[in-house]
Amino acid sequence: MEAKLSDRAISTALLFLLLAVCRSDPNPLRDFCVADLPAADTLTSNGIPCKPPSAVADDDFFFGGLAVEGDTDNALGFNITRATVSEFPALNTLGLSMARIDLGPGGVNVPHTHPRATELVLGLEGRVLVGFVTSSNVYYSKVIGKGELFVVPRGMMHFQFNVGRSKASFVVAFDSQSPGGVGAPLAMFGSKPAIPNQVLAKSLFADEALVATLKAKFGN
Ligand SMILES: *[C@@H]1O[C@H](CO)[C@@H](O)[C@H](O)[C@H]1NC(C)=O
Repeated sequence: MEAKLSDRAISTALLFLLLAVCRSDPNPLRDFCVADLPAADTLTSNGIPCKPPSAVADDDFFFGGLAVEGDTDNALGFNITRATVSEFPALNTLGLSMARIDLGPGGVNVPHTHPRATELVLGLEGRVLVGFVTSSNVYYSKVIGKGELFVVPRGMMHFQFNVGRSKASFVVAFDSQSPGGVGAPLAMFGSKPAIPNQVLAKSLFADEALVATLKAKFGN
């Protein structure tokens, strides 16, 4: 009987540990902690200090940036407008953030991952193919339109692609104030300093000339 109880205690403890590990950002310890971004630049701790509450006003809790359409006149037909803690300091310690993405016809948000957040995609305009690949190498995807949702679990490699004839836009919500982003093409070919050509050639079953060509497109 006692052994059973302690088994239960252990599994309960493990469950709480699992929940703690699966959480995104840590819980806040106060109502708000509007980020003092300039102060953060001089710190090396895991977090951003707060503005004094006496210096906080209504405008700190407001961000109008996502109302503005991004200009997609570029090679990818893509524009992102972020509302993470860096652009919207009131999100500090609150464990969430958003971004708006505009895509011209054929525009793409290239394959990338967010190391610190699950992503919820909400269609605003047009038709967007959203896809991700799991750690078991399974590809899941869906075309979404206005008002429709698609969720990309944390850390999964994913992309968005405008499959319509006109412009498309969507917003994404993250369960982190700072989801981070690692773009696959840039990480592979555009890192500073660069990954050695031999490593990429061997990894991609390609010759080094092709690797050099791709690197040149990403500034290497
Ligand atoms: C994104 O859109 C904004 C607003 O139109 C513009 O200022 C910015 O240059 C665009 N960025 C890119 C990479 O095209």
